[in-house]
Amino acid sequence: MKRILFVCLGNICRSPLAEGIAKHRAKQMGLDVYVESAGTSSYHSGERPCHNSIAIARQYGIDILSQRSRAVHMDDIKNFDMVIALDEQNKRDLLKMGFGKVTKLGHYANYNDQDVPDPYYYSGMDGFENVYKMIDECVEDMLHSL
Ligand code: 4NP
Repeated sequence: MKRILFVCLGNICRSPLAEGIAKHRAKQMGLDVYVESAGTSSYHSGERPCHNSIAIARQYGIDILSQRSRAVHMDDIKNFDMVIALDEQNKRDLLKMGFGKVTKLGHYANYNDQDVPDPYYYSGMDGFENVYKMIDECVEDMLHSL
């Protein structure tokens, strides 16, 4: 079984969506994968995903309410087969920590290795719609590539 870890900065906006979507899509596809998410920071450790991420996921029938933010730790290096960073800074931070291979989520679908934009400071739901769409398309493509 492949073990996949999605990593953003706070583990409250983007990577919780990636985790929720990946679990949901993998189940639909009948794929046996183990999925978690984490943050390069511990700013929000123990917190639920942000309200907008909970709301947008719910709109698409995905429940991410039970997730809790955690920071990446060194054990993750040996415990996961794939480590997927949401943006370039996350990738740099992971490589600095000693992670061997880190792929950006924007490597998948047709996003040319783009960052998933940080929606933390977005006030409305528009930004989250776009972020959701990008994460969904990339996660689906990533799962198809396994
Ligand atoms: P995330 O968003 O990395 O997608 O979870 C952020 C959450 C919190 C902060 C930045 C980005 N922050 O600076 O606290």
